[in-house]
Amino acid sequence: MSDYQQFIANVKKKTGIDLAQYKEAQMKRRLTSLYEKRGFKSFQEFFKAMETNDALFHEFLDRMTINVSEFYRNANRWEVLEKKILPKLLERNRRLKVWSAACSTGEEPYTLVMVLSKFLPLSQISVLATDIDENAISRAKIGVYAERSLQEVPEEMKKKFFTKEGMYYKIDENIKKAVTFKKHNLLADPFDTNYDLIVCRNVLIYFTEEAKQVLYHKFNKALRLGGILFVGSTEQIFNPSSYGFDTEDTFFYRKME
Ligand SMILES: C[S@@+](CC[C@H](N)C(=O)[O-])C[C@H]1O[C@@H](n2cnc3c(N)ncnc32)[C@H](O)[C@@H]1O
Repeated sequence: MSDYQQFIANVKKKTGIDLAQYKEAQMKRRLTSLYEKRGFKSFQEFFKAMETNDALFHEFLDRMTINVSEFYRNANRWEVLEKKILPKLLERNRRLKVWSAACSTGEEPYTLVMVLSKFLPLSQISVLATDIDENAISRAKIGVYAERSLQEVPEEMKKKFFTKEGMYYKIDENIKKAVTFKKHNLLADPFDTNYDLIVCRNVLIYFTEEAKQVLYHKFNKALRLGGILFVGSTEQIFNPSSYGFDTEDTFFYRKME
């Protein structure tokens, strides 16, 4: 077993996280640069140190989960969600069951609530937001952001739902209340069912082809008939019908009825 394979096995035993389902070259490069920076010579040495050094372990977790996010990421897709997808979903059902999977530091689920608030009172909106990374979830719950993550937020939404505090912007408490955050590993934990909308963006790119295919099937099962999967703007599904999806619009897939 190679140094990296052994590391994968050790990490899985320690955390339940299966690095074998992430694209190898990319992940190996990210982690090698971290351990070299910290003065280790191999994955084996790195893992041994991680066992007793919590700060190093957290640094590892931080490096393997790539938390970059922003509000209204790829704004034109959010416009499609608002103008085309949501009106159709809401025709059938006013209480939508919505999941932001791999929500990182909260920009995505909070964007969802802001968009939904154009149709429904905040008290009727609830979004489940999950991520494997507890640090990201803690930051999401705080809900304070640097200006750069708000670049795509429409001015009216910025005025309505953010308060400027020094260099930072704090999200409105009522938006926060509409989101429930939970730790969840897409590659290991069970999925709930009957979702109207699942948003899973900019995480599938890090997974192997095999892992992605398993996930497309699982997302399909988790949606109700006619429910929508919204993926990231580099994550087009090439053969949606083989997973039970029709293409509703670019990067939006509808579970076939
Ligand atoms: C680049 S961020 C994407 C955030 C947001 N969805 C967006 O598009 O802006 C990727 C997120 O995926 C999370 N992640 C990585 N592996 C995961 C897994 N196996 N299960 C759940 N989340 C995972 C990371 O912790 C990180 O927060």
